[in-house]
Amino acid sequence: MQNPNGQSKIYQGPKAWADFCDLQSKRNHRIFLLTDTNTHRDCLPLLAPHLHADAHYTMPAGEAHKTLATCAQVWQALTDARFERGDLLLNLGGGVVCDLGGFVASTFKRGISFVHMPTTLLAMADAAIGGKTGIDLGGYKNQVGSFAQPTAVVVNTAFLQTLPQREARSGYAEVLKHHLIHDRNGWAAAVASPTLSTDWDAAIARAIATKLHFTEADPLEKSIRKALNFGHTVGHALESHFLAQRPADPLLHGEAVAAGMWCEAWLSLQRSGISPAAFAEIATLLTQIYPKAPFLADEIDAIAAWCQQDKKNSAGQIRACLLDGIGGYAIDQALTLPEIVGSLHHYHEDYP
Ligand SMILES: NC(=O)c1ccc[n+]([C@@H]2O[C@H](COP(=O)([O-])OP(=O)(O)OC[C@H]3O[C@@H](n4cnc5c(N)ncnc54)[C@H](O)[C@@H]3O)[C@@H](O)[C@H]2O)c1
Repeated sequence: MQNPNGQSKIYQGPKAWADFCDLQSKRNHRIFLLTDTNTHRDCLPLLAPHLHADAHYTMPAGEAHKTLATCAQVWQALTDARFERGDLLLNLGGGVVCDLGGFVASTFKRGISFVHMPTTLLAMADAAIGGKTGIDLGGYKNQVGSFAQPTAVVVNTAFLQTLPQREARSGYAEVLKHHLIHDRNGWAAAVASPTLSTDWDAAIARAIATKLHFTEADPLEKSIRKALNFGHTVGHALESHFLAQRPADPLLHGEAVAAGMWCEAWLSLQRSGISPAAFAEIATLLTQIYPKAPFLADEIDAIAAWCQQDKKNSAGQIRACLLDGIGGYAIDQALTLPEIVGSLHHYHEDYP
């Protein structure tokens, strides 16, 4: 699958993955490998027999480390290893390693090439595709980042064998989001079978096709790419709130997005973007898969306040993507803080 903007080549499947490793071994650039502690332990043993890395850095695992401090460590390690503009950074990990590694590469010596080798469902189906890089700042999600395309994204679902079930369920939220905004048939299939798929290759291929539909048409998120943010206005607020208030037990990204999709589907219902029956279908599927996000009613104002720094905001207004039917979307919807608070109260009261 070649991205028509000519920047990212997507390799999917074990054969394509092996071909990529073989090709890299014949190139004369050096490879710097970025892993986190878990992908070092669980994923590097699959890769190491096929690909030699000239230098390697392992960052601590988790969203709490998607920070400038970690970037500084990786930039320093690249410098110590004397990496040059023509060399390559290979990100072996989930969305955190891909987002941070992409940002490090896009800024080191004003930009070196990078490749994503995603190891979570979330990164294979979403984060590794489309060329958004970034880190969190002051608790705000992806506050600093760049648009930079990896040279290649190399997907091999063999890595998912060691992924904890909770992480797979988290990643599935982005698959469901893709269905809700663009793929009615995918959504209908998910409703008919409300369990996590085991045929990940097919589900990931479908999710990648949806993501490319938006990112190729609008790489810099000026228009339709904003649809991919459905569930993320409230979702990012919840994720930031839990990271700040309960760092030992944060909500995973996809868990926060699942709760955010419930709230934003409810807001879509208030604006007649979706029917009561469509809302009921969305709410039922989400409740079948995701446990309730465990916040208290008196935390809701603080959660909603995080939305005021959301990157999609414009002219001081909170802007979100809502649904316009299942498989349809309405971008740039202005939302007030009381509306967001209302959606969180309904979630808190109605979500079983
Ligand atoms: N750039 C984008 O377009 C985009 C899109 C969606 C999400 N994101 C970002 O992605 C991040 C979430 O990604 P994630 O859910 O992959 O989180 P993650 O990278 O933190 O990975 C989840 C956990 O699984 C572990 N892990 C990864 N692969 C493993 C494997 N194969 N076996 C065992 N353990 C493994 C990791 O060490 C981590 O503990 C968030 O920061 C989010 O903002 C970015």
